[in-house]
Amino acid sequence: MDLKPQTNPPVNIAVIGSGYVGLIASVCLAEIGHSVTCVDNDTAKVVALQSGEVPIYEERLPELLARHRGQRLTFSSDLLAAVRRAEVIFIAVGTPQSPTGEADLSYVEASVREIAAELNEYKVVVEKSTVPVLTSRWICRTLLFNGAKQENFDVISNPEFLREGTAIDDFLYPDRIVVGADAERARRIMRRVYQPLIDGSYFGAPDHVPGSRDMSGGVRYIETSAKSAELIKHASNAFLALKISFINAVSNICELVGTDIEEVATGIGSDSRIGPKFLNAGIGYGGSCFPKDVRAFYKIAESVGYDFDLLKSVERINQNQLLCFKKKLNAALWTLKGKQIGVLGLAFKEGTDDVRESPAISIIKSLIEEGCCVSAYDPAAIEKARKIIPENGNLRYVDNEFEAARDAHALLIVTEWPQFARLDLNRLHQIMRYPVVIDGRNLFSLHDMAAAGFHYYSMGRPLSEPESSSRRKIDQE
Ligand code: UGA
Repeated sequence: MDLKPQTNPPVNIAVIGSGYVGLIASVCLAEIGHSVTCVDNDTAKVVALQSGEVPIYEERLPELLARHRGQRLTFSSDLLAAVRRAEVIFIAVGTPQSPTGEADLSYVEASVREIAAELNEYKVVVEKSTVPVLTSRWICRTLLFNGAKQENFDVISNPEFLREGTAIDDFLYPDRIVVGADAERARRIMRRVYQPLIDGSYFGAPDHVPGSRDMSGGVRYIETSAKSAELIKHASNAFLALKISFINAVSNICELVGTDIEEVATGIGSDSRIGPKFLNAGIGYGGSCFPKDVRAFYKIAESVGYDFDLLKSVERINQNQLLCFKKKLNAALWTLKGKQIGVLGLAFKEGTDDVRESPAISIIKSLIEEGCCVSAYDPAAIEKARKIIPENGNLRYVDNEFEAARDAHALLIVTEWPQFARLDLNRLHQIMRYPVVIDGRNLFSLHDMAAAGFHYYSMGRPLSEPESSSRRKIDQE
């Protein structure tokens, strides 16, 4: 028996693009009661999705795909048929970075050109991909140029704030839903789309996906103009990136004066106006969003006449963190050529198999260039990393943390997987050649690492040296 709350009536939705955002939006929109067709022009991917394959590592995604696939959720490569049936069309295609730093909107434009012909009755066209401000105007213009009639559509912006690794939870239990629409007709339809989350009825359904917080009162639903919604997305990501670069800059000062960024961040984050989240100092942010969106935001600002210099500093500080991390390795090992290095973590962050703009990939490439031998481990991202840097004489992907550390002159921690923080330090110490750990994510306490006999280099914290008895191993070499 299906006890999911049904909107009255459910909305027929087409989602264009089955990448991260498109796929998560599709399963979650089906989960809250709608009839969804997820379209992609990659027919092999569509066939894989139709047969139950789960293309990305994401908590709860296999469960929700199994629940809705072939029922409320179908996959297709027939864009026009999906658009014809739909009342709401979400555009969730990629907006990669162009060589000059702006968002490349050619996939968005191509989809828009195609759907224009099928707008023969009123439909809402939703920008779900991350796009710069004023894109909704371009979409509108392109639809008109390609034969759509103004009365048959509205273009609105409904940005997505999901994080990889917790994407389903972020969609169903969001801090807020932002809908930027300039026409009341489109606003009314979008309220129907999100009704089960707005009124909280979804969270009362017996088999709803349990989430990270109490939402029985419904989610915060914010209606704005289309331009404001577009700006909210870019500004949110840029602000989060700024918070990370800020704490990383402070962590550099901590190192210079000899104090601990963890103490400083706790003190700063306890101010409720600042908050403790996104104040983890480390090797810097990566992934498919922050690096690209920070750049795209200052580029669009520039194009409308504002020099958003602050964001250029955010980017510079972020790039510098990788160099700081690398310098610690040089400081620990003197020369690198011929050294055996263990690397823990390949994904750009924990909870995902995504290696796009991952600090780990840059580090491994530079270690190989310097003649090191690298053994790398990640609980989820090895297959994706292998496609970018295949195994070779200097690089092996291994099955667990200890294999990565075996005989290593140094062990690098690059991704914040929680299981790395629970490693048996005594065993680690025994199998390494030198007891040297360089931690880009501050996973361990200085005291525990000193007690276990490690020379422990972390970010924004003093070097932690072992007791004199543990020093013998390195001194004997
Ligand atoms: C980010 C935003 O958090 C989402 O709200 C947004 O929807 C998404 O981009 C997007 O635009 O699609 P995501 O890239 O999945 O999500 O990952 P985050 O959890 O934000 O982490 C980004 C990077 O910052 C990671 O490399 C992470 O390790 C790093 N980070 C995060 C830090 O270095 N320190 C912190 O305190 C937090």
